Amino acid sequence: MGAGRDDGMNLTRYFMLKAPMDDRFGPADIPAVWNLAKYKAETGQLPNYAGDTHDVHSVMIDSALGVLGAPPADKADFHAQVKWLQDYLSALPPPVYPFPVDAARAAAGKRVFDAECAACHASPRTGTRIPLAEVGTDPGRLETWDKASAIKGNQVVAAMGITRKGLVEEDLPGYKIPFLDGIWLRAPYLHNGAVPTLRDLLEPVERRPRVFWRGYDVYDPQRVGFVTDGDEARRVGTRMDVAEKGSGNRGHEFGTGLPAADKDALVEYLKTL
Ligand code: HEC
Repeated sequence: MGAGRDDGMNLTRYFMLKAPMDDRFGPADIPAVWNLAKYKAETGQLPNYAGDTHDVHSVMIDSALGVLGAPPADKADFHAQVKWLQDYLSALPPPVYPFPVDAARAAAGKRVFDAECAACHASPRTGTRIPLAEVGTDPGRLETWDKASAIKGNQVVAAMGITRKGLVEEDLPGYKIPFLDGIWLRAPYLHNGAVPTLRDLLEPVERRPRVFWRGYDVYDPQRVGFVTDGDEARRVGTRMDVAEKGSGNRGHEFGTGLPAADKDALVEYLKTL
């Protein structure tokens, strides 16, 4: 699985729903939890990689119940603590890129972004689901969850006497288009963390690294992500092989055909989000 990932929906199926284990496997990056106010159920911007839950409040409740592994002893205190955490994380801004940014290059990169990326990542579509075929990334995470599990999960929580909007009781068509706030700090990339840096994401699949080490915290401001190879990265990190189940690095080939100078400018702009 590797540092920084878990298999969240399988954890829910096995521990909360007591489902029998099967061979579905959906390792995914632990998501960044800043600026949670961006998720708005009214406009379809739901939390979780496939928009599996109706609102942030329900995710907080379900995550806390997962940690407790039992109904809370004091429901009023439980709800007060969930509310405090949700308010805090809703207003927490993404961290600002700490190294120098070339402003002229970033401005050129914004033009590339507006032409190639904004229709998905800076539009009303941002945060909403798109069919898996349109982005073509690894299906593992999507396959670990389904409508029947959502219905059962909602029943388990309701039986604890806890009211929340809860899990979306539908089979979901694909991953969401993520918001890109603080994207510089969210490496490695894609829901399963299969692409080490932003610059690698702008290369066609066959040119993206196939084996690297994740979890080492030295930053690479050129490629924008963490250093993922070398003696120290190998010592500290976890080996990631994109040939492994659920860890595929295919799909999301947007912008991969751009000239190198445009890719570099685009990456400079992404530092500023
Ligand atoms: C058709 C819609 C679409 C377009 C166009 C698009 N993306 Fe994406 N993008 C997605 C989806 C969907 C995902 C999530 C895929 C996944 O994680 O499996 C994603 C994921 C990403 C991620 C990874 C986010 C993370 O947290 O790991 C980055 C970075 C990104 N896109 C940047 C870009 C850039 C830069 C462009 C323009 C060159 C672009 N995207 C164009 C839909 C799009």
